[in-house]
Amino acid sequence: MSMKKLLYKKIPQEEMLNRVNAYYDAMSSRRSIRDFSSKPVSIDIITQSIKTACGAPSGANKQPWTFVVVKDDKLKKKIRQSAEKEEKEFYTHRATQEWLDDLNQFNTNWQKPFLETAPYLIVVFKQVFEKGEKRKKNYYVNESVGIAIGFLLTALHFAGLATLTHTPSPMGFLEKILKRPKNERAYIMIPVGYPAEDAMVPNLKKKPYSETIMIK
Ligand SMILES: Cc1cc2nc3c(=O)[nH]c(=O)nc-3n(C[C@H](O)[C@H](O)[C@H](O)COP(=O)(O)O)c2cc1C
Repeated sequence: MSMKKLLYKKIPQEEMLNRVNAYYDAMSSRRSIRDFSSKPVSIDIITQSIKTACGAPSGANKQPWTFVVVKDDKLKKKIRQSAEKEEKEFYTHRATQEWLDDLNQFNTNWQKPFLETAPYLIVVFKQVFEKGEKRKKNYYVNESVGIAIGFLLTALHFAGLATLTHTPSPMGFLEKILKRPKNERAYIMIPVGYPAEDAMVPNLKKKPYSETIMIK
């Protein structure tokens, strides 16, 4: 492969710290939202945020992801109905008591009205192999798609939008409803929009950094 010179803009040391501090502050206000406003959002903000995600690193640059943006009301309704069917099973039969206890603090249940209220659902698919006649491998698919979703969530938050990282389980219904090819598996669904006026969030605590950061 041909090579080209890296475009690198030097940032003065003291400016670096200002920048990470500003980014820390901006990201500290991100929360998972389960209560959305139906207020419209420009599709350009969504597609531009996805473009940021598409710039993420990926194993052997395979970019093993597809982002399907759902804005059609009928499709959203279908997705909600299928998700609620799975979630009802989950909450009443599939989940272990330990899992239900862990979820208790979020006040969640099988009902997912936000799947219709949020103006967009971004459904992220992982490509388990490359599309085409020969099954070509993709590498580190989960890691790559997870990183790209991280980029996406930060871009949307930076734009001033609310998101939820939603994983109705199992998610196979999304492949059917959105007519995805055989190499794609639903990975995560992200409702996006403005938070509802009176949106509430669980009063969570993040772990102390002394437990999560080690310098050796
Ligand atoms: C991979 C993943 C899956 C998640 N799935 C769900 C979900 O299905 N439903 C939900 O309400 N929240 C879900 N969450 C959101 C978490 O509950 C949330 O991120 C966590 O409680 C921390 O809250 P915060 O995002 O507001 O910091 C998920 C988060 C991640 C990273």
